[in-house]
Amino acid sequence: MDCENKLSAQCYGALKDYIDSLEEKKGALISVLHKAQEIFGYLPTEVQEFIAVELGVPVSKVYGVVSFYHFFTMTPKGKYSISVCMGTACYVRGAEKVLNNVKNYLGIEVGETTEDGLFSLDALRCVGACGLAPVVLVGKDVYGKQEVKDMKKILEKYRAMEK
Ligand code: FES
Repeated sequence: MDCENKLSAQCYGALKDYIDSLEEKKGALISVLHKAQEIFGYLPTEVQEFIAVELGVPVSKVYGVVSFYHFFTMTPKGKYSISVCMGTACYVRGAEKVLNNVKNYLGIEVGETTEDGLFSLDALRCVGACGLAPVVLVGKDVYGKQEVKDMKKILEKYRAMEK
């Protein structure tokens, strides 16, 4: 779902509905965390506390699971999530250089979000578009070998859309 304000009552309501629909709550922590991340985009402390209360488990247990699995994140994603494919086909065709260009241009590392909240950066395994390698996704848009030579131009296009 797409909540207007990510930490709104509407989002919490959606999460509570999901939890209430579960027959067995205590063993459902991982699926609840997945659902929460899908709804909120990330798992801030207050969402973890909400889940702990609703499931009747200690907050420390929720926190332990969130920090253990790399697919859970406590950092909000940017409005545009940049994913640089580091799968084999992309890697051998220069994905590392593309990734470094994005890091240098935005001044962030993998897993981080720009201060203005516009972009976040991730490195992924094969995204299934090897023919276009190296591949970068920006949100749902796919960019291949010709375009990613100039990542600055691509990212400036998204900045311009925000003005
Ligand atoms: S390795 Fe990058 S799309 Fe397959």
